[in-house]
Amino acid sequence: MESVLHVRGRSALSGQVTISGAKNAALVLMAGALLCPEPCRLRNVPNLLDVKRMGQIVRALGVKLDAHGDVLDIDATHIGQSQAPYELVSQLRASFFVIGPVLARLGIARVPLPGGCAIGARPVDLHVRGLQALGADVQIHHGVVRACVRGGRKRLRGAKIYLDYPSVGATETLMMAATLADGETTLDNAAQEPEVVDLANFCRAMGAKIQGAGTKTIRIVGVPRLHQADYRIVPDRIEAGTFLVAGAITQSEISMSPVIPDHLTAAIAKLRAMGSQVAMDSPNTLRVIPSPIEAADIETQPYPGFPTDMQAQFMALSTLSNGNSVITETVFENRLRHVAELQRMGADIRVKGNIAVVRGVPMLSGAPVVATDLRASAALVLAGLAADGKTVIQGLHHLDRGYENLTEKLCRLGADIERVMVPSSETATEAIESGQPSA
Ligand code: EPU
Repeated sequence: MESVLHVRGRSALSGQVTISGAKNAALVLMAGALLCPEPCRLRNVPNLLDVKRMGQIVRALGVKLDAHGDVLDIDATHIGQSQAPYELVSQLRASFFVIGPVLARLGIARVPLPGGCAIGARPVDLHVRGLQALGADVQIHHGVVRACVRGGRKRLRGAKIYLDYPSVGATETLMMAATLADGETTLDNAAQEPEVVDLANFCRAMGAKIQGAGTKTIRIVGVPRLHQADYRIVPDRIEAGTFLVAGAITQSEISMSPVIPDHLTAAIAKLRAMGSQVAMDSPNTLRVIPSPIEAADIETQPYPGFPTDMQAQFMALSTLSNGNSVITETVFENRLRHVAELQRMGADIRVKGNIAVVRGVPMLSGAPVVATDLRASAALVLAGLAADGKTVIQGLHHLDRGYENLTEKLCRLGADIERVMVPSSETATEAIESGQPSA
């Protein structure tokens, strides 16, 4: 059996929604805790499949985990050289990031190559070159990256590193590795995403010396050892952005907290350009006030540019705009797979390479669709909320990976969404036709 979503569109939403902790911060902070030979506590950890998978990876390395509610106790006092299992690493790219902290702590690390995924090839060359610059010998054999510190020394040594591209993961891997290195490391052209800053703040809470996170240049002075810390993860800016679009696309007023409005600058600016107002009711509360949807061009960029993780949701919004929008995806090479699904719902979109031209239509119509990746699944839920009739969404494992209770939260705002169990052999189309009862 597998579950599908039945979304009945055109319900008005209203009310207040609570935003969970940031998925991509939680994942990398769990890796960061490997740097510390004392127990650490993370708070505001979202309950997600990806977080569970990361838990399995760090457990395989010897870490003791204890989860209660949104609190996660991580005891990495004793970690070993065992290899993170390929089956887990291949399902969760963020798990590759453990290579930095394990290498920094033990002087040796073995992690399988994560491989490509639904949105692109996603190589790890920037991680590897940076670790080499820090003095590691890195070999890739039979799909496994083996890194070790040369010459019997156990400590990496600080270096000046320029990243060809401000990769979030490479910045995080190298920042973690440099935290315990001998001497000073400079990361130039570093990623400036809030999750990088959250990782730096967590490492600082453990005693690391890091300056400049959130700018293009990060300086890290290595320390021999870190100590325990109790740290609260930032709210998920992509989840908050998804709810902003939910308000705009359903023409509903929704308020959300906690949020850090500064993390949403690009998304808020684009939403305003598309007609909606976004009010800041308190320093950590945003409210979207909808208006008829205007077309606007979007180009994804590393932070503080428009986030690739919001591209699919904004495309769903632009399908219902008064005009034409050009949407350019520059971060990942294969992140427009939701176009075909939105077209099934009546959207008018043409794609050439990494560019989608969206001509707004007055109405979408519910249809059976398949979620192709995490943010695409959110976009299909949003489109379904605005569409006429019933949308049946398959491929929910993507949604469950990265949004904590998205459907429950939307239902509390008034959405009409049901999770329905269907035999795995059935397609979404068959599910509609046979009218499966809700589970
Ligand atoms: N890249 C390389 N070489 C590398 C590393 C990256 O060519 O060594 C390329 C990638 O292939 C991609 C671009 O650089 O084309 C950007 O990748 P980046 O490394 O910045 O992304 P990431 O660290 O793999 C994180 C998030 C993604 C988010 C991106 C961009 C995590 C766990 N994942 O991925 O989140 O889209 O940054 O902001 O932090 C999501 O949450 O849905 C998601 C995909």
